[in-house]
Amino acid sequence: MSAPRLDIDATREKLLALGCSHAAEKFGRLLSDAVARDIPSHAFVDLLLESEISGRETRRIAATLKMSGLPTGQTLENFDFAFQPAIERSRIDTLATGAWIRNAETVLMQGPPGVGKTHLSIALGTRAVELGFSVLYYRFNELMVALKADAALPPSRLRRRRYMNMALLIIDELGFEPMDREEASLFFRLVTYRYGRGAIIITTNKSIRDWTELLAGDEVLATAILDRLLHRSNVLNIKGRSYRLRDLEAALKRVDA
Ligand SMILES: Nc1ncnc2c1ncn2[C@@H]1O[C@H](COP(=O)(O)OP(=O)(O)O)[C@@H](O)[C@H]1O
Ligand SMILES: [Mg+2]
Repeated sequence: MSAPRLDIDATREKLLALGCSHAAEKFGRLLSDAVARDIPSHAFVDLLLESEISGRETRRIAATLKMSGLPTGQTLENFDFAFQPAIERSRIDTLATGAWIRNAETVLMQGPPGVGKTHLSIALGTRAVELGFSVLYYRFNELMVALKADAALPPSRLRRRRYMNMALLIIDELGFEPMDREEASLFFRLVTYRYGRGAIIITTNKSIRDWTELLAGDEVLATAILDRLLHRSNVLNIKGRSYRLRDLEAALKRVDA
């Protein structure tokens, strides 16, 4: 007795009923490919499952990236390490494993404008999403707006804020302007809450000795914040050339020559 004729559409419907939309979409093509290339049935099933898994993973990454507020286009792959020898590739590679995020550590990137701080923070954030971490990206000023709006929230509700409970919070461009007392104490509350709970990346053009001035001139507060941030931290001092000015540098060289 011959096997009953199988209907591709019926199988596809079953995959859809199970929520396997990626496998359903690829099913027809994978099947004809398997027949044409004489692929063993086990290998075909495996390919089909793999297509579902990778489709889900791609969708998860896209959705998490969207939620994270991370700008797109700045990745570890398109960062030119040769241009910025002050950045040790091996340190970035280590950070790219995400172990520091699991340990709720801090990365502090300091340096003048244009050296790649924002680029690297976005790149590490994007990698973190790929690794499965929850990530939230904020420019400092925008974060402050959110913190002020939530200033009166009771701790039970504050705890549920995304800037409190994402695995990684990126705070870009800290220090363009000094904080007033209210801002400094809201920032302190954030750092204190996340301490030991979640990872933080901070980029800043200020060096650590400028932090008291940055934090409303309050040395006690500055010490308390730095204590927490630097306890388990990875400090990257990026003293290099501005990538933005590289074309200008090249043009000036041509003029000189
Ligand atoms: N080493 C680099 N390789 C590739 N692009 C870079 C590099 N450094 C900086 N850039 C690019 O130059 C611009 C300025 O860098 P950015 O990360 O914003 O600097 P910063 O935050 O330190 O001021 C961005 O468009 C960034 O993508
Ligand atoms: Mg920047």
